[in-house]
Amino acid sequence: MSHILQSDNKETQEIGEPITAEIFRFDPSVDDQPRMQQYIVPYKHRMSIFTLLREIYENIDPSLAFRNQQCGRGICGTCRFRIGVNNKPVKGCTIPLLSGSHVVIMPYNEKKVVRDLVVDF
Ligand code: FES
Repeated sequence: MSHILQSDNKETQEIGEPITAEIFRFDPSVDDQPRMQQYIVPYKHRMSIFTLLREIYENIDPSLAFRNQQCGRGICGTCRFRIGVNNKPVKGCTIPLLSGSHVVIMPYNEKKVVRDLVVDF
């Protein structure tokens, strides 16, 4: 049997401590105020902020809105968020997460929120 098409499934394995993510939530069509929502997410191999959001959307909370059509390589810039206590602007696909991390994710521009992490550029 050929081993060429086999993968070691490392990228789908849960390894290490889960990540705690606090994420900005706001739907201007129904919410009066924004709020922060906490998620405990299983850590997986090579997880970034972008793949963390995908994991939440696909396996925990499909109501989370973010731009999911992305290059994943730091080129397009559609994954721009602000993270951490300093509200630092980043490209989410270029930020690796460590096992057991605690991350705060805010929209790139809170004044232009369409919904959750989606902003009008
Ligand atoms: S997904 Fe394109 S820059 Fe991050």
